[in-house]
Amino acid sequence: MAATTDSSGSKNTSAEAAERTFYVSTPIYYVNDKPHLGHAYTTVAGDVLARWHRQRGEKVWYLTGTDEHGQKIMRTAEAHGVSPQEWCDQLVRDAWKPLWEHLEIANDDFIRTTEDRHTARVQEFVQDLYDKGEIYQGGYEGPYCVGCEEYKAPGDLIDGTGEFEGQKLCPVHRKPVEMLKEENYFFRLSDYGPRLLEFYAANPGFIQPESARNEVLRFVEQGLQDLSISRSTFDWGVPIPWDPEHIIYVWVDALLNYATAVGYGSDPEKFERIFPADVHLVGKDILRFHAVIWPAMLMANGLPLPKRVAANGWLMVGGEKMSKSNLTGISPHQLTEHFGVDAYRYYFLRAIPFGTDGSFSWEDFSARYTSELANDFGNLASRVAAMVGKYFGGVLPAAADSGPAEEQLAVGLARAFAEADDRIGEKLDFSGGIAAIFEFVKQVNGYLTEQEPWKVAKDTSAAGQARLATVLYAAAESLRGIAVLLNPVMPRVSGLLWDSLGAEPVLGALAEQQVARAAGWGLLPAGVTVTKGEILFPRLEERPEA
Ligand code: ME8
Ligand code: MG
Repeated sequence: MAATTDSSGSKNTSAEAAERTFYVSTPIYYVNDKPHLGHAYTTVAGDVLARWHRQRGEKVWYLTGTDEHGQKIMRTAEAHGVSPQEWCDQLVRDAWKPLWEHLEIANDDFIRTTEDRHTARVQEFVQDLYDKGEIYQGGYEGPYCVGCEEYKAPGDLIDGTGEFEGQKLCPVHRKPVEMLKEENYFFRLSDYGPRLLEFYAANPGFIQPESARNEVLRFVEQGLQDLSISRSTFDWGVPIPWDPEHIIYVWVDALLNYATAVGYGSDPEKFERIFPADVHLVGKDILRFHAVIWPAMLMANGLPLPKRVAANGWLMVGGEKMSKSNLTGISPHQLTEHFGVDAYRYYFLRAIPFGTDGSFSWEDFSARYTSELANDFGNLASRVAAMVGKYFGGVLPAAADSGPAEEQLAVGLARAFAEADDRIGEKLDFSGGIAAIFEFVKQVNGYLTEQEPWKVAKDTSAAGQARLATVLYAAAESLRGIAVLLNPVMPRVSGLLWDSLGAEPVLGALAEQQVARAAGWGLLPAGVTVTKGEILFPRLEERPEA
């Protein structure tokens, strides 16, 4: 009898562990315009993280979507002479969803804040806070940035120059702020400062990177002000349930997507299984919303807090943050047309340490494409396939004569797996993880340079042929590992490589290969059909004129 509680308790725990879902989100983006390189950067990072965890054999939920309410969207729609809903529908259908498909983003859901499944639950959440006494009515006057959809502290504003001489500007958008004065509803955010600080202290990994964490700590330590959570001078939003003359502040509406999309208030089983997020990926601009306001909202309603908020740095062009008003003329499509989707996914994550700002340039992208992707990786794959074709009629030979050189490859592959798993899967150090994989690519190239299979091939003795077979087996087996490792980053090209190795019929689909097992050696069986296939990274065409 006494054991009942214990055993049922531990049963629950293991059932929960088996069902545990790794939940990763992107921001839901404003649809006042088309997606640009910055949005794609965060979304590709989330996709690589999600795919990596899927290949760990975990259940994963990858969520993205669109933020469709608020003044910014409303004004844009007005300027185009359509209703805000029409504007959003069109942008989502013609620009946002197609780009994610084009970039091979494998999200599990796409939430739009104008959907009923969202708006009804947002009202319930806010009503709950109101019933708990967390919301009160008051007045507010202050500078507001419509670009940020945020009241600004006067001290954060910068002085305008040139056309904005004499005006105060938002430091993010570098546009004049507007003075707003409204009767609003307020959330008692100021009450949550001490609890938030306690939470940050107990969960040092909650905000990433360290610089972002420090910024948030300093901000909260200064003392928080209550948050205005309603607007009444326009109506494009979710009505406040007890006072429908007001709409819910767009950020409160937007943050709740992370809950409504996974069944908050509608599907308790799903909500329990998926919520809270393991990682909210965000840009630095919206860190405070995710690391301060969102956790306080959850605390106020007794819901569990996310495990981690990870801020990526800015993509810059010519020293400036890439933005909608400063598009620099380069669209994701222009780059994928020139470099291909796989190289696009690879480049930004490889070139910029996650969390720091990084500059884009055609020169740097071209250089990495040619040296890392085409020469180091692509050539390796095609050389090995060509030699198996030439010397063994395309049938992968058995490794009859493995020795220390092959053992080193096996060790190198295992190391690449361990390192990439820790860096990509745990630390969100995409650049370091990809670098570890490419260290192994280099190692395999070095191995072939040393072993010189094209020379060994001239030795027609049984020993010579056994050696040749061994070298080509080891190279192909290495490529098997590389295909698995790179699949989360470059799914199409890795799939081509998987096909060229004849791996699918014997090992199954590439996406089903679990990283822990794939780190082993000798998994690709001799006898598979190796074919040359499509060139993985064709020579770049002349760069298009800007
Ligand atoms: O803020 N470099 O939406 P948004 C890197 N709707 N990342 C960039 C970037 C750049 N130059 N520009 C944009 C919103 N991003 C809100 C979010 S979430 C509940 C609501 C990325 O369309 C980065 O992730 O302004 C940034 O935080 C996000 O796009 C902002 O997108
Ligand atoms: Mg923005």
